[in-house]
Amino acid sequence: MAEITRIAGVLVVGKGLKGARMNEIVKVGKEKLIGEIIRLKEDTAYIQVYEDTSGLFVGESIERTNESLAVELGPGLLGKAFDGIQRPLDVIMNSTGPFISRGIDIPALDYEKKWFFKPRVKSGDKVKLGHIIGEVQETPSVVHRIIIPPNLKGKTELNKEDLEETFTILEIKEGEYTVKDTVCIIKSEKDKKEYTITLSHKWPVRIPRPVIRKELPTIPLLTGQRILDTLFPIALGGNAGLPGGFGTGKTVTEQTLAKYALVDIVVYIGCGERGNEMTEVLTEFPHLEDPSRPGSPLMDRTILVVNTSNMPVAAREASIYTGITLAEYYRDMGYNVLLLADSTSRWAEALRELSSRLEEMPGEEGYPTYLSSRLSAFYERTGRVITLSNLEGSVTAVGAVSPQGGDYSEPVTQSTLRVVGAFWALDSSLARRRHYPAINWLRSYTLYYPLIEKWYKENVNEKWSELRNFISSILQKEAELQDIVQLIGPDALQEMERLILEIGKIIRLGYLQQNAFNPIDASCSLKKQFYMMKAIFQFYDILKESIEKELISADEIEKLPQVEKIIRLKEVEEKHIENEIEEILNSLKEYIIQREKAA
Ligand SMILES: Nc1ncnc2c1ncn2[C@@H]1O[C@H](COP(=O)(O)OP(=O)(O)O)[C@@H](O)[C@H]1O
Ligand SMILES: [Mg+2]
Repeated sequence: MAEITRIAGVLVVGKGLKGARMNEIVKVGKEKLIGEIIRLKEDTAYIQVYEDTSGLFVGESIERTNESLAVELGPGLLGKAFDGIQRPLDVIMNSTGPFISRGIDIPALDYEKKWFFKPRVKSGDKVKLGHIIGEVQETPSVVHRIIIPPNLKGKTELNKEDLEETFTILEIKEGEYTVKDTVCIIKSEKDKKEYTITLSHKWPVRIPRPVIRKELPTIPLLTGQRILDTLFPIALGGNAGLPGGFGTGKTVTEQTLAKYALVDIVVYIGCGERGNEMTEVLTEFPHLEDPSRPGSPLMDRTILVVNTSNMPVAAREASIYTGITLAEYYRDMGYNVLLLADSTSRWAEALRELSSRLEEMPGEEGYPTYLSSRLSAFYERTGRVITLSNLEGSVTAVGAVSPQGGDYSEPVTQSTLRVVGAFWALDSSLARRRHYPAINWLRSYTLYYPLIEKWYKENVNEKWSELRNFISSILQKEAELQDIVQLIGPDALQEMERLILEIGKIIRLGYLQQNAFNPIDASCSLKKQFYMMKAIFQFYDILKESIEKELISADEIEKLPQVEKIIRLKEVEEKHIENEIEEILNSLKEYIIQREKAA
């Protein structure tokens, strides 16, 4: 019989486990705590336990399950909050308070609830693994497409032959069913066996769900945040790192993205940084309104995976896999899914703790040497894909990183930097000056722009790139000029250079700064971004010419009332912005004409 030989916090060592597999789930001790085998040596297994191990004793038994850590997929996920191994938090909180009782086996989905299943295929139709057979209206915002589980035959990695296997629909139902009822029976043309399909299936979290192929990331994921959409856009199916020290705005940025990013589904993985931060998430999210569907709750298209700081580290380690598997599942229905992880540093710390309990050789700063490869394997699960049902879907990920003291040279930030396509560097000095979002425009970057430039030109305006270049080159020049001012004072600058400083200020205050808590400014459409950039460019152009003609001086420009108006354009509603810009520019031209006449 398998029994416990050693207990080291979340790590339990057991013997008598010959034949067990890596990543197999076991039930540990009298209370049957859930654990996962993370290392095997002959008949000895090292088990990370997803629950508090206090009160566990050497000699208690270990039970094998023959299953991997898996999530349950089906209607009823949206609007829910789960812990790192997909135990529903509402159930847990209602029955036993905010803490999870140990060893309890609560299903992730509601097994009693009935859903109205509408078939999309009929008897005699031919289908393949991953094909859609029908749908359920999961929430008012989202239709849940029911697919034939890709692992129907027990295989999780599908080859060409598996993908080509044809099944005939023998029977398909319509009406009210629970997630465990059979709604469809299919027969394989290959092995002639019959298989039953329900509204739900399980998937092992550590294995990516199969797709037909990945597509190039050529479409932007729009966030409504000017600094991101204009300067450092992320592609649908791309990934971004969001590093920042304490209080720089990681959580506010992630939550702003949850609200305003133009995606179908949001999966939010929270690993608490401070005491009650996750309790806040659990109480606040249910009250958020969906800006893309006024009147309906954001939770109608959101899933929360939450680790409070009192949950065991192993659950935190598992949570990013649980989260990305949920995201892949909705992607497989043909949706664009945004995965937000706040913060991946807490995940990396869990990995470090487990690694040290395993007495592995530590790498940099005590993190295991495989930190980088784990992180890149996680981010590699993102992408814009063609699903098994031949639809286009995507998983985009934004991972916050919390480097101690804002020091980007630490291993988690560095490993993230190597894999992500966009890097949004939060900056504590900007946050201190209350410049929000505190994303540093000189340190951030995106690798996606060359791939999505065409999309902007075709869908917004031919001149998009020109204006974007204008904005970033002014910011660059402004930074250089500020260095000079620091060294030798403002008197060293020429008039035209002082104009650049002034335009730089307009861009920083009027364009890059965006107030997450102002109803008009919180989200900015691409059209409005385009008008704003164009207005700033024209403003610059008029002043540049006037300086050249010596009609105006830099001192006067600083005092122009139009400067303040250009800065406040962001607070003007999109439908009024063209008029407002015309007024500002006309009054400026008028002023210049007067000067010309006077001269
Ligand atoms: N975009 C923003 N707009 C307005 N205020 C912000 C913004 N970002 C951050 N803040 C302010 O900074 C505080 C700390 O941000 P938070 O996201 O909690 O930091 P972090 O998660 O990096 O520790 C917030 O409570 C808020 O007051
Ligand atoms: Mg935070």
